[in-house]
Formats: sequence, structure tokens, C-alpha cells
Amino acid sequence: MSGNRTLTMIKPDGVRDGHIGAILNDINAAGFRIVAMKMTQLTKAKAGEFYAVHAERPFYGELVDFMSSGPIVAAILEKDNAVADFRTLIGATNPANAEPGTLRAKYAKSMGENAVHGSDSDENAAIEGAFHFAGVEMF
Ligand code: RTP
Ligand code: MG
Repeated sequence: MSGNRTLTMIKPDGVRDGHIGAILNDINAAGFRIVAMKMTQLTKAKAGEFYAVHAERPFYGELVDFMSSGPIVAAILEKDNAVADFRTLIGATNPANAEPGTLRAKYAKSMGENAVHGSDSDENAAIEGAFHFAGVEMF
């Protein structure tokens, strides 16, 4: 993946609450092109692998349980400055601190159930893109 791509997931709360369409609409309106997309459900093992960087943190168990609790929508998004611009679009990790208009301000309920994931670096965007998608699934 080039440096102009990022990986997002609409988390289980966003799917459960019926926000897939609204979130994808906001993503498109913000100028991101959808390069790859699927609805899937992470096993606990795969959720733990995805968030392995947080394995020693106190919230890891809850994070893995939540991320494997229902279907998600994973997508690769393309735009100039994709990683940073998408982090701006989603807002702060805790929706109580998220700027008005951001995805977490609009669709998230709590720090733990915060509706949307966004990669935090170009390197992780590439790793996370390959985690969810084969090359033939990227357009
Ligand atoms: P994400 O990776 O899902 O996009 O979220 P993020 O970068 O904004 O936050 P990160 O630090 O990577 O944490 C991953 C997820 O773990 C939960 N968390 N809980 N209780 C806590 O202090 C705490 N800190 C993080 C959040 O659900 C966060 O999205
Ligand atoms: Mg993160």
C-alpha cells in the first residue's frame, strides 16, 4: 500500500447501531476513495492480533471482547495524507473529547465503544490493510 492509504473499521457498535451507511457517506464526503471493503467478524484471536500493540494495557481484554462481539466493516481508504486526515475525521479516542462533526462525536458512545478505527501511521496502515485484504481485493 502507498503512503496515501489508511485502514478503517466500523466497529461492532457502529454496525449494531445502524451507522454503516452514514459513516461511509461521511467518509466519501470527506474526499476518501474506497479501495477495498468487506463486512466480517473478528475472532477473539484475530482481534487480539490486530490490537497486539496494546497487549500489556489494562483495557486489552475488554478491547478484544468488544472487537470480536459482532460484525465490523473493514475498508482501505485512499486520499492525500490519508492517515492524518482520517484521524482528524474520526476525532479523539474518547468521544466526549471529540470535536463536533467528527465520526466519534456523531456516532460513538464511549471510550471503549467508539464506532470507528483509523490507522495511526503509514507503516501500520500497510500492515492493517494486509491483515484484512488480499492484493486482489484492493482496487
Ligand atoms: P483505534 O486504534 O481503534 O483507532 O483507537 P485509537 O487509536 O484512537 O486509540 P488506541 O490508543 O489505539 O486504543 C485502541 C482502543 O482501545 C480502547 N482504549 N481504551 N480505557 C482506556 O484507557 C482505553 N484506551 C484505549 C479504545 O476503544 C481505543 O479505540
Ligand atoms: Mg489506535
